[in-house]
Amino acid sequence: MHDPRPGPVIVAIGGGKGGVGKSFLAANLALALAQRGATIGRRVAAVDLDFGGSNLNLFLGESFPERELADFLDDRAENLDAISQPTQLDNLRYVAGSFDLITAVDPLRDRKLDLVRALVGLKADYVVLDLPAGSAPATLDFFFLGDIKLVVTNPEATAFHNAYGFLKNYLLRRLLTEFRDRKEIMSFILDHYRTSGTVAEVRDRTITSLVENLRAEFPAVRPEVTGILQENTPLLVLNRSRGRRDRQFLTRFRSVLEENLGLVCQALGVIPENRRVAQAVRDGEPFLLAHPRHKISKQLISWTDQLTDQRSSRR
Ligand SMILES: Nc1ncnc2c1ncn2[C@@H]1O[C@H](COP(=O)(O)OP(=O)(O)O)[C@@H](O)[C@H]1O
Ligand SMILES: [Mg+2]
Repeated sequence: MHDPRPGPVIVAIGGGKGGVGKSFLAANLALALAQRGATIGRRVAAVDLDFGGSNLNLFLGESFPERELADFLDDRAENLDAISQPTQLDNLRYVAGSFDLITAVDPLRDRKLDLVRALVGLKADYVVLDLPAGSAPATLDFFFLGDIKLVVTNPEATAFHNAYGFLKNYLLRRLLTEFRDRKEIMSFILDHYRTSGTVAEVRDRTITSLVENLRAEFPAVRPEVTGILQENTPLLVLNRSRGRRDRQFLTRFRSVLEENLGLVCQALGVIPENRRVAQAVRDGEPFLLAHPRHKISKQLISWTDQLTDQRSSRR
């Protein structure tokens, strides 16, 4: 069921591996959302949460943000609207990430909750989150904020491997969050991972077996578990595809997710490999605005329409 939280619709873009195209997709989906919604007064914000590896601004064609996330985290700004930067589109603003934070041991320190509140408090109708690589707890927490969650991968074994790990961690954290007030279920889940055993027993300690045991032990929670595995699950995007064989990879990946994790994920679709993507960054141009009739741009626009349609029918 959809959480009726007021505030912006959040689109979270994650995926485990670095360099698969999360920032490219975040920037261009934000541009497409803004462009498509301009006539109805839709306001869009894109936020670079990739502390240390931030480059969302470059995909938006903006080289020199005047303010950045560190201004908020270091208490030099009250909210994210105050540090958001303009783009070529009047109804799209962005919050730049921060490179300096890489020197800090923990860039978020005790500010994670403040940042979560600031994100949902942004004065926008849609907020697109560009997440860092990996599945650190904070990254997963930001991913959870997504009313719409996208996982980006490339057609490479390493990228699939990381996307799989990301989704597995997502699932485990979802289960722990869902049952955080149910002590006996929490310890059941933790015991599943904690108990020592033979190599074969440890190998068998998959999420699927956890889910099966959980359902057997606590029949009352079955609908909740099924909801987590099957409803409003992350959508998959295959980026940098070079043809049919790559697209088949995506189908296989979906079956692996279903078989190993019990997680049913739909594919949003495929973006082909194209040299103009890097070229647009070199030229300081946002791809969608530089190549409005390119098939990648058309694809992004149609996803935007699909995702916003789903939203309005769900509300
Ligand atoms: N469809 C594509 N075709 C060609 N190059 C791409 C495509 N998508 C992304 N890239 C390039 O791949 C690199 C990594 O993309 P980026 O969005 O920064 O990844 P991430 O945010 O996941 O680390 C960038 O240099 C980008 O220009
Ligand atoms: Mg990135």
